[in-house]
Formats: sequence, C-alpha cells, structure tokens
Amino acid sequence: MIFWLNQAYASSFMPPQASEFAAGVDSLYKFLIITSFISCVLVIGGMIYFAMKYKRKTANDKTAYISHNAMLEFLWSFIPFVIFMIVFGWGFKIYYDMRKMPENAYEVHVVGQKWYWDFLYKSGRKTSGEFYVPVNEPVKLIISSRDVLHSVFVPSFRVKQDAVPGRYTALHFTATKEGTFQMFCTEYCGDGHSAMLAKVHVLSKEAYEEWLQNDPYKGLSVADIGKKVFDQKCVACHNMSTEKKIGPGLGGIFGHEVALADGTKVTADENYIRKSILDPASQIVAGFPNAMTPFQGQISEQELLGVIEYIKASK
Ligand code: CUA
Repeated sequence: MIFWLNQAYASSFMPPQASEFAAGVDSLYKFLIITSFISCVLVIGGMIYFAMKYKRKTANDKTAYISHNAMLEFLWSFIPFVIFMIVFGWGFKIYYDMRKMPENAYEVHVVGQKWYWDFLYKSGRKTSGEFYVPVNEPVKLIISSRDVLHSVFVPSFRVKQDAVPGRYTALHFTATKEGTFQMFCTEYCGDGHSAMLAKVHVLSKEAYEEWLQNDPYKGLSVADIGKKVFDQKCVACHNMSTEKKIGPGLGGIFGHEVALADGTKVTADENYIRKSILDPASQIVAGFPNAMTPFQGQISEQELLGVIEYIKASK
C-alpha cells in the first residue's frame, strides 16, 4: 500500500521534481502524509472498535475501575514525540539548505510589480514574464517589489519566497531538468494576482551563456525596442502612418479619440493601447473586423512598453 501511495503521490499529485530540493521536500511531505494516515487509522479505528466492544449491554453494566496505566501513557506521549522530533530535524535540515546561499551562484534580480515579474541579469539583459536559468548551476534570486507584497513560487522547484517592498529577500535553487516550468505569484496582491505568472526556462549552460550575451534589445531606447517589435509582429496588419491596412493605421493616434464599433469613444492613451494589444476583441475600432490575435502572454512587458512608446513617438 505504501508503494502504491508512493506512486500515486509522485505521478499525479505533485508537479515534476525539477530542482535539487524537490526530492527532499517530497520525501518529508510523504513521511508526514504516511504517518498522519497511519495515526488516523489507529485513532479512528480504535475509537470505533472500542465503542463497539465496550458498548453497555444491560442497564446494570458498570464501568470497570481503571485509574491509569503508566506504560500506555508513556508510549502515547513518547512515540508522537519521536515522530515530531524526526519531522523537526528533517525539516530543519531542508530549510537550512534552502536558506544557505551558495557562493558562486548566477545572480538574478527579480522584481515584482502589479501584476508581472521583471528579471534583470548580470549581463544587462532584462526579461518580463519569462525567466531564464541554466541547468545544474546554482541560481540566486534577489527579490524585491515595487508596490505591495508578492511572492515567488515555482512548484516544480519546491521553492517560495516573498517579495517585500522596501527590502531585498533572497532565494536559491539548482534546476536539475531542462524545460519550461510555471512560476506563480503566491501572495494575494490585488485583482491581477492570478494572472501574475512567469515561465521559467531552464537551458543548458552553453545555451544560457549564449542567451545572456545575445540581447536583441541591447543599447536600444524603449521606442526603438518598440519599432523592432512592431516591424516583426504588427506590420502585417498595421501601418505606422494614418493609412489603414487590415487594421487601423497607428501613426499619431496617441492622445486622440478613437471611435469604437460599439458606438463609444475612447482616448488612445497607454492603457487603451496596452489593452488593444493584449485583448483586442474588447475594443474593436469602428469599421474594422475583429481579426487580431490577442497578444496576452505572447509579448514581454519590455516589448509592450516599447510598442506603446513607439506609437507615442509617431506624431
Ligand atoms: Cu503579485 Cu499576487
């Protein structure tokens, strides 16, 4: 049965074990679940068994006079004590390893903000919503927040750390599997909390080093980043002039009123442009089809701000 529990636990209840902490945390957790399960069976089962065995059968049934049993009392205190001490010692060891920061780690600054994550690497590269780390190398996160409490949580790595405004917190891990893993914000931080996600990409060391040096936006101004993004992703349907293509021309629209298909009018400010990129169907411009792909999750914060600035600059 324990084997079965083990299998079921590893395969269906838990995310993949993708860091060097994962197996240790899972073993401790498994120990807690199995000891709790056994205790539960003993206590509830014993209760039902004794209730049936010693049920009063006649009105004259009297309870036997029992004052105490020193051995039993010792055992039911001592056995749980030993189990709790094992859990404490084991948990302390794992916690200690998690808190002891490695010396030669790849350091990455992680900044939380309503409602996205920014990542700043030593090479000067910046990403939002996408986090790149090397496999089998210690990585240290220096975490902060620009506004309220957030919390970094990567279930596959079994690590979690709050992002606190006004101070730095730290977290480290060594990813053991290449691939893509989900990172969550796990501190309720407002109505965008559940969308405050990031993808952790674990690359081979060589690919990672190359990635670090290969910043496509190196040295570019925000608007120039926007131009680069625009020329790759937007230019098939939009012009940066007043001329329309499949979609409206975007030249000089910033700050002007836009008539929408539902008859309302909005001012084309940063929020309007952002929303039009991430969720275009929510505000179709009058006279145009609902044809644009939503870019939610397809474009980084840096690229998004770039496009906004590029549109702004196109007077
Ligand atoms: Cu940030 Cu929840």
